[in-house]
Amino acid sequence: MRQAQARCVRIGRLQHRDTRQLLALNAQADRAEHAFLPDLVAPRIDRRAARRYWCAQVHGRDGRVFVARVGLRVVGMIGVDLKRARHRYAVLKRHTYIDSLFVLPQWRGVGVARRLIRAALDWSRRRGASHAALEMAVPNMAARRLYGVFGFAPREMMFTLPLRSPAP
Ligand SMILES: CC(C)(COP(=O)(O)OP(=O)(O)OC[C@H]1O[C@@H](n2cnc3c(N)ncnc32)[C@H](O)[C@@H]1OP(=O)(O)O)[C@@H](O)C(=O)NCCC(=O)NCCS
Repeated sequence: MRQAQARCVRIGRLQHRDTRQLLALNAQADRAEHAFLPDLVAPRIDRRAARRYWCAQVHGRDGRVFVARVGLRVVGMIGVDLKRARHRYAVLKRHTYIDSLFVLPQWRGVGVARRLIRAALDWSRRRGASHAALEMAVPNMAARRLYGVFGFAPREMMFTLPLRSPAP
């Protein structure tokens, strides 16, 4: 059953016709992120700004959005952006930044995220990136395990302090 489900899924580049579904997916992704990081991520997105952002990503030169489709239905997404560290006019390093990974709950557990990440990493290598980076909530164990499968390892930590509490 799971194998049959997995076989229906195609990974491809975001098209204009997908953007409405993508926005709905992205809103769910933000709610999931808000549950992990209520003090850092707003519970609701600015839909107009989100539409502008994702429409611009369809033909983005330095970024790519991959979607997982079942027929015309979008069931998963991932974004990847190329970052260049510059010194004056020389490009010193390139890396990619991975974001917005989300798979619809009913399509989880059949390898969709794995395939989306693979597509993002292949794209990164073709652009000459030396490494890929991402940020994630520490309590998100599913994502930690998933990224660990690919060899992602923590390099930096963000510490937060609620400012309403009195200083010690
Ligand atoms: C995390 C998420 C993207 C995983 O998507 P998925 O398509 O179900 O993942 P896959 O089926 O490709 O799983 C690949 C591997 O990831 C790990 N994994 C995925 N879901 C897991 C879970 N719930 N618990 C533990 N490990 C999990 C496993 O190692 C799995 O390999 P296995 O099936 O051989 O054990 C999905 O649960 C999701 O969209 N969550 C909400 C959004 C989110 O957390 N995004 C990441 C933000 S950084």
